Amino acid sequence: MGVNRIAIRRAKPTDGRAVAELLGGLGKDFRTTPVKAARRLRTTTDTVFLAMSAQDPVGLVAVNTCRPVHAGHRYGRIMSIVVRQDMKRHGVGRAMMRFALAHLRRLGCRKIELTSRVYRSGAHRFYRAMGFAATSVRFSRTLGR
Ligand SMILES: CC(C)(COP(=O)(O)OP(=O)(O)OC[C@H]1O[C@@H](n2cnc3c(N)ncnc32)[C@H](O)[C@@H]1OP(=O)(O)O)[C@@H](O)C(=O)NCCC(=O)NCCS
Repeated sequence: MGVNRIAIRRAKPTDGRAVAELLGGLGKDFRTTPVKAARRLRTTTDTVFLAMSAQDPVGLVAVNTCRPVHAGHRYGRIMSIVVRQDMKRHGVGRAMMRFALAHLRRLGCRKIELTSRVYRSGAHRFYRAMGFAATSVRFSRTLGR
């Protein structure tokens, strides 16, 4: 399966089923239903793209931007990236990442960040192959009501 047969387009609210299936590939904590995924597509602040092989959604990449006061220029963020299990290691992730970086560059971003759970060693190798380096430690916590 060649990457030249992949087309990347914006996700639409009618893509709820595809988005739910792809997000499930991030692990059980990320499973959701088509109805909920469709609602998220209407309300998310991310820009969400799907990689299509003919009519088949085979990957998802979501991006966002921010302009932090400490930086003085716009940052881009890869918020999520996932390839359908049976399509991994065929260049779909690389194609989506290149597309996302070009999109963020057009928006004026000069630096691209992402976070990735420590156990995702395959993804970390992918990010390094895409030119990213691990430069920070991420802290997170939940807030009580
Ligand atoms: C990470 C992910 C998006 C990569 O997508 P992909 O389509 O499989 O990656 P590609 O085929 O484009 O790989 C490009 C290059 O990245 C590297 N790479 C990708 N996956 C790798 C892995 N598991 N181990 C080592 N290197 C890897 C290789 O250098 C590869 O080039 P090569 O195949 O010519 O050697 C995909 O594996 C995935 O969906 N993982 C599960 C979800 C996930 O963890 N997402 C990240 C959340 S932070």
